[in-house]
Amino acid sequence: MGRPSATKSTLTLDDVDLFATETFVQGVPHHIFKLLRKEAPVFWHPEPGGPGFWVITKYEDVDHVSMHPETFSSGKRGVFIVDPPPEAGAVLGLLLLNQDAPQHTRYRRLVSRAFTPKLVLGLEPHIRDVTNGIIDKIADKGECDFVTDIAADLPLQAIALLIGVPMEDRQKVFDWSNQMIGAEDPEYSTGPEVPLRASMELYAYAQQLADKRRKEPKDDILSTLLAADFDGEELTEADFNAFFLLLSVAGNETTRNTISHGMKALMDYPDQRQRLLDDPTMIMTAVDEILRWSSPVMQFRRTATHDTEIRGVKIKEGDKVVIYYPSANRDEDIFPDADTFDVGRTPNPHVAFGPGGPHFCLGASLARLEIRIMFEALMKRLPEMEQAGPASYLRSNFIGGIKHLPVTYTPERN
Ligand code: HEM
Repeated sequence: MGRPSATKSTLTLDDVDLFATETFVQGVPHHIFKLLRKEAPVFWHPEPGGPGFWVITKYEDVDHVSMHPETFSSGKRGVFIVDPPPEAGAVLGLLLLNQDAPQHTRYRRLVSRAFTPKLVLGLEPHIRDVTNGIIDKIADKGECDFVTDIAADLPLQAIALLIGVPMEDRQKVFDWSNQMIGAEDPEYSTGPEVPLRASMELYAYAQQLADKRRKEPKDDILSTLLAADFDGEELTEADFNAFFLLLSVAGNETTRNTISHGMKALMDYPDQRQRLLDDPTMIMTAVDEILRWSSPVMQFRRTATHDTEIRGVKIKEGDKVVIYYPSANRDEDIFPDADTFDVGRTPNPHVAFGPGGPHFCLGASLARLEIRIMFEALMKRLPEMEQAGPASYLRSNFIGGIKHLPVTYTPERN
């Protein structure tokens, strides 16, 4: 993992294809990113059916693009490589991710109220209960699919806890969220209409939930989110529904895949797992290294608002500029031994959540909490887990995902 394979050593820039989902079915193509960082850190990539896009792979440049939203816009035409169809533009524009200041600033301030450190840390005992409940179900079996049996549930449970989705509704919210993701992968997508229908149902559900709470406010996060803030500003109905939808997607696959990649890395590098087992206080640095190593969001796109340059390469107004987080996270100019998984790595200025501009991951502290609690529980309860078959990877150029990871372990009650 993480090292260019011998068969790929003759790769040239002509072979680079970061658009085809096929490129990702063996895992994140770090050998391609390495080549680009070395030979063409600002690389013009053709796009089937589109104008093409710039591929940005160096840490410093990913940082530069993220920190200059006035030059590299999220709002102009969204953050996905392919331009949205005109009819989808208005709806996508409601999502925080696809906005620029001042709209983004106001909206983000309102929704950030659900993510204060106090609220997130207050979830710790509940997240620990959910985690132990997940492990209870498989602890006696001695084998399971790590992704579907262990990693998949916690992220949605955590969001449901945070927002206060009633227990009886959680299963249907989980089903819709899962149907919305992985649309490119034939294993998940049963047709192009499924994600669309699921998102409409989730949207309608959010509306119902908000209506109920507006009528009967409680002392919970949902009521805080729906109330006006100090300046009298409040979320519109459409704002809230779109936010609910974004959380269900943004917080689901990302955290799930980080947990799966993290477990795979600990099994691939048993010496690193042993360090963590010997010294559980290393969990904080281990969580960050797992995030750097897995970096499940592979890219987001921006659109240049005027002519500019990156590393002396001319970028024209309207060009698509795509930043690759897993590549920045293996940049040898920033991380010594970048291809080594080191649970004690410090400093570790990874950009798995983005480098820290206005769109820095809103759920970063929640995700960190989930990952920490999950690995604390796994190291304690199932410390000898081993990979029992090949991992299969998500067919996507956007999310670096593991779909299945067969594992064995000593049953807990043996
Ligand atoms: C390991 C898990 C996660 C990873 C790797 C991740 C990664 C990211 C990245 C790379 C961005 C864009 C950053 C930028 O453009 O600078 C982002 C934005 C965002 N994330 Fe996460 N995320 C994770 C978990 C979560 C969770 C658990 C939630 C919520 C429950 C969440 C909610 C969001 C939201 C709402 C945004 C948009 C923020 C904005 O546009 O202002 N994420 N995330």
